[in-house]
Parts: sequence; C-alpha cells; structure tokens
Amino acid sequence: MSARAEMDWTSFCALFICVSYVSSTKLHEAARVKVTNEGITRFSFKDNNISLVKLVSTSGNKTIWVGGHKVLYSISPTQAPEPCQVEVDLCQDESKDSDNPHCLNRISLLREGVDGNLLFICRSRDGNARCCNVISNYSLNDCFTSEHYEPDINEPSLLIGNMLYFTKSEKGLYRINKEDRNDIIWSQTFPEGLTYLKLIVGKGLHKDKVYSFFAEKHRDGEHWIPRVSQSCMNDRGGSKSLLQSSWTSMIFTSLSCGRGYEFTQMIDVATLDTDDDTKIYVLFRNYWNMSAVCVYNMSEISKLFSSSEFNSTDVPKNHRPGTCVEDSTRLPSDVLGFMKNRPEMKDWVKPENISLLFRHRHYTHIQVDRVGDQTVMLLSLGYLESVLQVPQVHRFNSFVA
Ligand SMILES: *[C@@H]1O[C@H](CO)[C@@H](O)[C@H](O)[C@H]1NC(C)=O
Ligand SMILES: *[C@@H]1O[C@H](CO)[C@@H](O)[C@H](O)[C@H]1NC(C)=O
Ligand SMILES: *[C@@H]1O[C@H](CO)[C@@H](O)[C@H](O)[C@H]1NC(C)=O
Ligand SMILES: *[C@@H]1O[C@H](CO)[C@@H](O)[C@H](O)[C@H]1NC(C)=O
Ligand SMILES: *[C@@H]1O[C@H](CO)[C@@H](O)[C@H](O)[C@H]1NC(C)=O
Ligand SMILES: *[C@@H]1O[C@H](CO)[C@@H](O)[C@H](O)[C@H]1NC(C)=O
Ligand SMILES: *[C@@H]1O[C@H](CO)[C@@H](O)[C@H](O)[C@H]1NC(C)=O
Repeated sequence: MSARAEMDWTSFCALFICVSYVSSTKLHEAARVKVTNEGITRFSFKDNNISLVKLVSTSGNKTIWVGGHKVLYSISPTQAPEPCQVEVDLCQDESKDSDNPHCLNRISLLREGVDGNLLFICRSRDGNARCCNVISNYSLNDCFTSEHYEPDINEPSLLIGNMLYFTKSEKGLYRINKEDRNDIIWSQTFPEGLTYLKLIVGKGLHKDKVYSFFAEKHRDGEHWIPRVSQSCMNDRGGSKSLLQSSWTSMIFTSLSCGRGYEFTQMIDVATLDTDDDTKIYVLFRNYWNMSAVCVYNMSEISKLFSSSEFNSTDVPKNHRPGTCVEDSTRLPSDVLGFMKNRPEMKDWVKPENISLLFRHRHYTHIQVDRVGDQTVMLLSLGYLESVLQVPQVHRFNSFVA
C-alpha cells in the first residue's frame, strides 16, 4: 500500500499502564502493583493514522488487531515486535471505476469474528457501508450493504445473529439486519452531548435485551449524567404514524457513584462475565478532576428496569413500557406516545460496595480481566491524540469509597 512509503514511523504502545489487583469482593491495599516501563513493548507502525486498537483472541492465540484508516495490522506475542500488515482487500467485489482507479474505502468498524470467522469488518465510502466476515486467509465473505448508515470505528458495536448494533455519538443506537436492508431501527433525535461507551447483551431472562452505557451532557452544558438504556432486540419499530423504524422499547435510567464527591462524568466502561451475571466497571471523573471506579451488575440493572416506577405521571395502564412484545408495530398509540418522550425510571442504579477512588488521576481507559481467582483491573493514564495511545507511567493510591 502507498501508505508504507509516505507515513512516518510512529511510536505506539497498545498496553495499559497501571495495574491493580482487586479481589472480587474487597479491595486489598497490599495487592496493588505498579507497572514500570520495563516489560512494556513498543510497536511502530508505518501508517501513522491508526484509528483503532482491538484485542482479539483467535483460537486461543492472543492477537491484537490494529485498524488504521486503510490498513489492518496484526500483532501476536509469537511474532517479532514489528506489527504485520494484513492484506485485506477493501475493494474486493466493488465495481471497477475507470475514472477512479484508487480504492476510496476506509475501515469503519472492526470486531472479533463470530461463527468461526477471524474478524468482522465494515468498510465505508460516501456514507454507505459494506460489512463482511474476514476468514482465515484474509478474504472477505458473507458481505452485506448498509445504505445511508455508516458505523464509526471508535464507537461501540455488537453483532448478534443477523443483527449489527452500533452507536453514533450525538445520534443514538442503530440496528441493521444483515438479511433485510429495510429492517433498520434507530434512536430518535437525542439532545446534544452524548458519548456512547459500551453496548452489551443482557443475561439469563434478559438475554433478549441490549443495553447501552453513555455519558450525557446536562442541559446546563456543564454537568454530566451517567446513563444506561435498555431495549428489546426483537423491536420492530412503531406504527406508520408514531416511531416508525425507531425503538419502541428503549427505557433509561442513571447510575450513581460516590457519596459526596458526585462522580457523574462517565469516562470508560469495562465488563467482566461471571457464571450467571455480568459485572460493569465504570470509570468516572468528577468536577474536581478526581477519578473513581464504581462496579454494577447486570442482574441489578435489569431488575431495576423491570421493577422501578417511571419518573412520569402519565404512564400507560395496560402495558408496562419497555416490555418486549412480539410485534411492536401494533403497540397502542398511548404507549408509543409515551415511548417517544424518552421514558426514565424513578430509581437510579446503585453501585456494589467496592468503589475505588483515586485522587487527581486522569485515568482515561479501564480494562478488567480475570487471572486465576483474582480480578485484575487495568487503568490507563494515557491520553488520546489522533487516537494514538501515548504511555505515561504512574502509580496511584486507592481506597474503598
Ligand atoms: C485519518 O483518518 C481519518 C478518519 O479515520 C480521516 O478522516 C483522515 O482523512 C485520515 N488522514 C489521513 C492523512 O489519511
Ligand atoms: C497459535 O500460535 C502457534 C505458535 O505461533 C501456532 O503454531 C498455531 O498454529 C497458532 N494457532 C492458531 C489457531 O492460529
Ligand atoms: C480463501 O478461502 C476461501 C474458502 O476456503 C476460498 O474460497 C478462497 O479462494 C481463498 N482465497 C484466497 C485468496 O486464497
Ligand atoms: C480539570 O481538568 C481540566 C483539564 O485538564 C481543567 O481544564 C480544569 O480546570 C480542571 N478542573 C479543576 C476543578 O481542577
Ligand atoms: C424526574 O423528572 C423530573 C422532571 O423532569 C426531574 O427534575 C427529576 O430529576 C427526575 N428524577 C429522577 C430520579 O430522574
Ligand atoms: C448486584 O448489585 C447489587 C447492588 O449493588 C448487590 O446488592 C448484589 O449483591 C449484586 N449481585 C451480585 C451477584 O453480585
Ligand atoms: C460497605 O462498605 C462500607 C465502608 O467500607 C462498610 O462499612 C460496610 O460494612 C460495607 N457493607 C457491606 C454489605 O459489605
């Protein structure tokens, strides 16, 4: 690719810097570890327009996939510390345009593959996207086109069965059907100032629902509200006159974190699956630039959505808003009218009793993993510049809030 010759080599580090060991119930001061510069591998890329770092495990081999504007790199522990450029033909099966021999597609989404495929990739051009599975010899397979709806490489996404879910900050949650290009659902227009951080599927009884975590700027333009929404995967949108092709099951609540310190700005969200639940680790910042991590669980969030009252006086009587139904296009107009006003719950989600508080640390990313019987939390102090992660080494003090 021409990028090879033109671009400067850019120093790059894909690893998170600070590591804290936390047992699943209680914080142990002594178990904290500090990561120094040693043991950190730096990688250099020929294309300095790297826009995504993605950790993908392929058949037990950990591979980091790094998606650039037009190129894809793979890094594996068994490989020399030089990233390997992967030849994915972004213009495969595109009609050849003799006036414009250069491929104008760019990578707009990159995910772990499902059903034995290596990766899932979308390439975009002029607001339209074409999404495909990438198979083990890097050729594209099973592609579908999304006209007028283009994912964004740095936004959360989910691929479940035929459905691709993705968010667009300032716009909302989209769902497109691989098999039926007319089956598209999107959010109604939101107030400005939305940043999506995570999309996840419910557990157990709620595995038919999808949850989005996002930071919302308060109307006053200064404060933030940490939000979670729930919607039914089988939502088909409303009637022709109300909420057609929009979510008819999307309900909202807020997350509370910290007593007295008012942690309201959601910075990043990580999840960890347990046997029958999912724990949600949310990195927050407050007005005084302190950082905190509050931990929630999905069973509690789903329970709240199905039991809390709505923060409204005109709740429909014959149908609980947000309940999944077989055909949402037949929902009565009072229900659709209620859903149009972004229904919120009266109760807020409370964190589990293991919040962590950090004084004056601008953590920007969180990752959580399990190592043996320990839960390992990784916090990054790096800042993002052109979505390049620049490492800084730091130690931190933490205590139970
Ligand atoms: C870098 O990528 C962004 C989008 O990811 C694109 O808008 C921009 O034109 C790219 N810059 C270069 C120099 O290729
Ligand atoms: C995993 O990596 C090892 C060592 O490089 C290699 O021999 C093996 O084929 C890889 N397995 C897969 C499934 O890629
Ligand atoms: C990649 O694998 C597929 C399926 O095994 C095959 O049809 C295709 O020809 C292969 N492509 C290349 C470039 O080897
Ligand atoms: C918090 O940090 C931001 C950016 O570094 C800075 O502009 C702001 O003044 C800080 N706020 C306080 C209360 O220290
Ligand atoms: C309920 O709605 C009112 C009016 O919009 C608002 O002031 C209040 O903060 C809301 N309460 C909760 C718990 O969201
Ligand atoms: C889920 O969170 C709630 C509220 O913090 C807590 O009471 C409950 O014990 C948690 N459940 C699990 C399985 O950890
Ligand atoms: C929650 O944390 C507080 C403060 O550390 C502690 O006093 C209390 O016993 C804890 N509660 C539970 C149920 O663990």
